Amino acid sequence: MARSAALAEFLAEAQAALGRTNGPAAKVSAEVVARWSSLGVTGAAPQRLKVCDYITAALSQNHSRLAACFSALEGQLRWTRRITADPADSIFWNGHANAIVLGPGGLEERSDVLVGATVMAPGTLYPDHSHPPAEVYLPLSSGAWWNSEMAWNDPGLDGFIYNPPGILHAMRAGDKPFLALWFLPT
Ligand SMILES: [Fe+2]
Repeated sequence: MARSAALAEFLAEAQAALGRTNGPAAKVSAEVVARWSSLGVTGAAPQRLKVCDYITAALSQNHSRLAACFSALEGQLRWTRRITADPADSIFWNGHANAIVLGPGGLEERSDVLVGATVMAPGTLYPDHSHPPAEVYLPLSSGAWWNSEMAWNDPGLDGFIYNPPGILHAMRAGDKPFLALWFLPT
């Protein structure tokens, strides 16, 4: 299987953007890029949720190549809610979606690396969670990130967030739509 041009271009730009990480985040970046250098198999069919309408607005302030490549790719992705989301919590239920680019249930089905995206409506909080692998976030919009060793902050479109393995972390949208990419060696 070959990668689609849109996926190949997105991964090339993501690799370039991950080049701005440093410290332990740079190690995670190098690891995910090394893993996606080998191809996976074709994954899930596209699916869109209403909250995905915010993607265009979220990207409107971001003129990077990575943003353009993600914009070209997002319609191919399978957007889903967090598995633990509760329909009774209508703000979170209607206000977020995740898509996996590389990984289980993703555009490329594989278990060695996880690359995905989260979109959120203005004012949405993505609750505290943790997972064994370390994680690098690249913001594609404004937003705020927190972990138990770091106060809430927005690193900006040229910045990144590093979550050490197993740490409790969360993110939230401010008064604008939120869009970010995440990268984990699994
Ligand atoms: Fe996470």
